[in-house]
Amino acid sequence: MSGDGGGSVESVLREARKFDPPKAADVGATAWHIDSMEQYRALHERSINDPEGFYGEVARELTWFRPWEKVVEFDAPDAKWFVGGKTNLCYNCVDRHVEADHGNDVALVWEGEPIQPNGRPEVRTLTYRELLREVCKFANVLDKLGIRKGDVVTIYMGMVPELAIACLACARIGAVHSVIFGGFSSQAIADRVADAKSKVIVTCDGAWRRGKVVPLKENVDAAVNELRGTGGAGAGSMLRDGVVETVVYFKRTMNQIVWHADRDYSWRDLMVMADKWRPCEEMDSEDPAFILYTSGSTGKPKGIVHTVGGYMVHTYLTSKYVFNLMPDLSQPVRTAPAPNGQMYWCTADVGWITGHSYILYGIMSNRVPTLMFEGAPNFPAEDRFWDIVERHKVTQFYTAPTAIRAFMKWGDEHPKKHDLTSLQVLGTVGEPINPEAWMWYREHIGRGGCPIVDTWWQTETGGHMLTPLPGVTPTKPGSCCLPFFGVDAAICDETGKDIPQGGGLLAVRKPWPSMLRGVYGDRQRFIDTYWSKFDVDGALAQEGGISPYYFAGDSAHLDEDGYFWILGRVDDVINVSGHRLGTAEVESALVSHEAVVEAAVVGMPHEIKGTGIAAFCTLEPRRAPKDADGAAKLKDALRAHVADQIGAIAKPDSIRFTDALPKTRSGKIMRRLLRSIAAGQTHAGQDTSTLEDFSVLARLQESSEG
Ligand code: WT7
Repeated sequence: MSGDGGGSVESVLREARKFDPPKAADVGATAWHIDSMEQYRALHERSINDPEGFYGEVARELTWFRPWEKVVEFDAPDAKWFVGGKTNLCYNCVDRHVEADHGNDVALVWEGEPIQPNGRPEVRTLTYRELLREVCKFANVLDKLGIRKGDVVTIYMGMVPELAIACLACARIGAVHSVIFGGFSSQAIADRVADAKSKVIVTCDGAWRRGKVVPLKENVDAAVNELRGTGGAGAGSMLRDGVVETVVYFKRTMNQIVWHADRDYSWRDLMVMADKWRPCEEMDSEDPAFILYTSGSTGKPKGIVHTVGGYMVHTYLTSKYVFNLMPDLSQPVRTAPAPNGQMYWCTADVGWITGHSYILYGIMSNRVPTLMFEGAPNFPAEDRFWDIVERHKVTQFYTAPTAIRAFMKWGDEHPKKHDLTSLQVLGTVGEPINPEAWMWYREHIGRGGCPIVDTWWQTETGGHMLTPLPGVTPTKPGSCCLPFFGVDAAICDETGKDIPQGGGLLAVRKPWPSMLRGVYGDRQRFIDTYWSKFDVDGALAQEGGISPYYFAGDSAHLDEDGYFWILGRVDDVINVSGHRLGTAEVESALVSHEAVVEAAVVGMPHEIKGTGIAAFCTLEPRRAPKDADGAAKLKDALRAHVADQIGAIAKPDSIRFTDALPKTRSGKIMRRLLRSIAAGQTHAGQDTSTLEDFSVLARLQESSEG
């Protein structure tokens, strides 16, 4: 199932604990939208059997300029939702609330990382009316720069309100945004800009991270040089057809930047001249909304394409029920957040799908204030998040298992210093959460009572797929529980046969509104990756065979209560700190270094990150280090090189030099064996019958790690 075809799907843990959902009042919530399993089951059944009725009703909670003719049309792998409907994401997230007389309600609360001389961090609050004005202005700026409906705008910024403004402005005029996480390197920017043929990049001078400045504008300059063919030839420099004409930079950190007269514009200079009003573009429900690049099992990231209508409806609906958002409780008093109002906080970066769906669109369309934090969880101290929860009276808190494990390691004393009683719902996303971390989260952050929603989903799914509902679903530590409305998830074997209990491949058997509509510019990859796994009724044997089921790339286990337990990826993708990386990407970065001939990268257990990166490299003999000191230096150089090629998140945690990699007779690297070596296990009990050269294994085990 993995790269070398070996390995079986099995469950590693048996978790018997089960927690009933609390009453709303027990966690200080006014009510739960849904509060019984019967209600959940009835709604789920209806959503599957009558999507027209169910989703028609849901979509009518939002504003459409023209109604759809049909809710869903599916001809695998192509789905259309709200066919013929016209709407606009920005309209539903901003204008709608202003028009409903909520213009003075708080839309966005932003907190900067640095602590100012007055001892406090900078906080900015934007009401819907203020947000609308800024978004209109930036939409007009984009228009002046020649951006039209359908053009791709690359956004590479830190976590500042202008990032949200830029995204919403794109949505307003129908431009397709492609947000690149600020932790990625210039090479990664160049690859994505070239793939999307994007002519405009919106960036910042720099971003604050742990008290230091990340030089975003400098990275953009290097990417532009790379694209113009004036930079060094990096791993991904084969694509040169993306020529950036314009760079807009927002000054945040005031670090020195190089200004290029032919392309650079300051955000503030453009904004002072911009008109304050701009109507929303009428978007077809199936017009593209954005592209978001994610890793796959080849070296080249895929541009996942989402469209307007279905994405809007599913992120709206999931946000409402999974986080129990209640806008009318938020701000009955127009001028200030109500005493028992909601304040939602997701700690992800907008550069990931979590930030797109659950900092911006899903939350704003629900009219609950969304909090955006610029910095790191341990700056200036390990209690920063809890300080934020206390000061802003956060009611919903959504984070990742890797962060929770870091909090555990830092110690209980940090949350203990703060009043966390405002919290009503806790969420987690990104990777399987280990039961100890889940229990710690419940105990130390959730006062032993807040429901934890462990949400399984992907960049490709656009929104939550498997999750408990607070106030409804009895939860089990480590399980993402049950399918959300409209999601027909199952565990299947490779023929698509349902496995009612036990392990197998995670499949989605029916279309859902926010499903990806394609891989940008690569139809075949879209089909090969997601629609070629399940051979249902011989579907794959046919000419151009397409599976009717969606393949998520994860294996999972279904327990006796029908609860899902995600086991992990079955392809050559590893999930580091909840962020997806293709092993091939890291390998190609490593071999682009002059000292490396061949590299194999696998995941290994890591205390905080969940999965760490282990790299095995064979070296160019003349460049091989002579002693331990030389080896340590080369390892440092390789780590720096990978950070340069992809970004710091891709730096290997362990690198081993070896004179050969274990391969099958057909030359395939046996990653399964490397995985067990990286995990510190012996190969006893492993099937090595296809290994070509046995001595390689022994030598690998002896090789020292570092
Ligand atoms: C992969 C998707 C969805 C936003 C963050 C990651 C893993 C995600 C869970 C969870 C177990 C999870 C899966 C999935 N994953 N959430 N709650 N429990 N695993 O998005 O980068 O697209 O990665 O993350 O392996 O396929 P992504």
